[in-house]
Amino acid sequence: MKIAFYGTKPYDRIWFEPLAEHYGVTLTFLEAPCTMNTVELARGYEAVCIFINDNLNAALIGRLCEMGVQAILLRSAGFNHVDLKACRGRIRVLRVPSYSPEAVAEYAAALLLTVNRYTHRAYTRSRDFNLSINGLMGTDLHDKTAGIIGTGKIGQAMIDILRGFHMKILAYDLYPNPDLSVEYTDLDTLLEQSHVISLHCPLTKESHHIINGDAIQKMRDGAYIVNTSRGGLIDTSALIDGLLSRKIAGVGLDVYEEEDGLFYEDLSQEIIQDNTFARLMTFPNVLITSHMGFFTREAMQAIAVETLENAYALEHGLELKNEIRASD
Ligand code: NAI
Repeated sequence: MKIAFYGTKPYDRIWFEPLAEHYGVTLTFLEAPCTMNTVELARGYEAVCIFINDNLNAALIGRLCEMGVQAILLRSAGFNHVDLKACRGRIRVLRVPSYSPEAVAEYAAALLLTVNRYTHRAYTRSRDFNLSINGLMGTDLHDKTAGIIGTGKIGQAMIDILRGFHMKILAYDLYPNPDLSVEYTDLDTLLEQSHVISLHCPLTKESHHIINGDAIQKMRDGAYIVNTSRGGLIDTSALIDGLLSRKIAGVGLDVYEEEDGLFYEDLSQEIIQDNTFARLMTFPNVLITSHMGFFTREAMQAIAVETLENAYALEHGLELKNEIRASD
């Protein structure tokens, strides 16, 4: 199978290239993202492999189908960036549902500890021999309440980690898991009672802006928010208002609703055009990273194996256990 691999970064090649022969695939690594301007590069390929910021809308999918591309291989778990309805009956979509939930949960915990204890600011201060600790006071997590929204694989791993800090856990999920030993509650109660709110649900119509102005008003004064899931879960303007009013004590974001074109790029020589993003960056109690919760050796290895196993299964007519389809 010939696969056009869009949005290649050096770290993708390291993990995928050595496996290509084993799975009998030919990988053509393209640095460009998959857009209307670059989609033509996939002509003659059976599949495209894309990442989370390649937005495959109906028009792009139409072009892929016209060119005879048969499959979209997502090297991610999330699939909100692909118009599944436009794919129905025309092109298959396969994802990597689970590679290392622990990688993302550990990263969410790192963001929480950083914004709560200001280690990011302490680091830059001490590099400059400013060894004052004024303004860096945090709060204990011990005996505080953590609200986990979405109790799937990553949410569960996060619960395990936060229990290690002796936090009380409240959980909210559209589909509570009866096998999980955790106190489920409604969303409002979680918002009202949690000192820390960590988002671990996918971005869907129902979850879009689940953290909006109303939700923030319901939170405790001085709540912390961590989002390693998808930027669209948070209404960024409302978040900024919550920070300005000091309702929110700290925010750790690995995702941002307008991250396409920003994240994964070196923009250090550019003028940032997104005023909301630029404003968010100015808060001393906000830490933003570039969608890298997944980025561990173990996760990269698992993503590469599973993506190419999906390709192999497709080519050899095996069961497509990771195929996703539009639900309605
Ligand atoms: P999962 O599918 O195992 O769990 C998601 C949970 O969210 C399920 O229990 C589901 O019932 C629940 N849910 C769905 N809609 C909901 C709603 N409206 N309100 C509350 N709960 C809802 O997914 P997993 O593996 O735990 O991943 C969670 C999310 O993490 C992914 O959807 C993806 O967006 C994000 N992610 C981020 C990464 C990063 O590098 N930062 C890497 C991998 C995933």
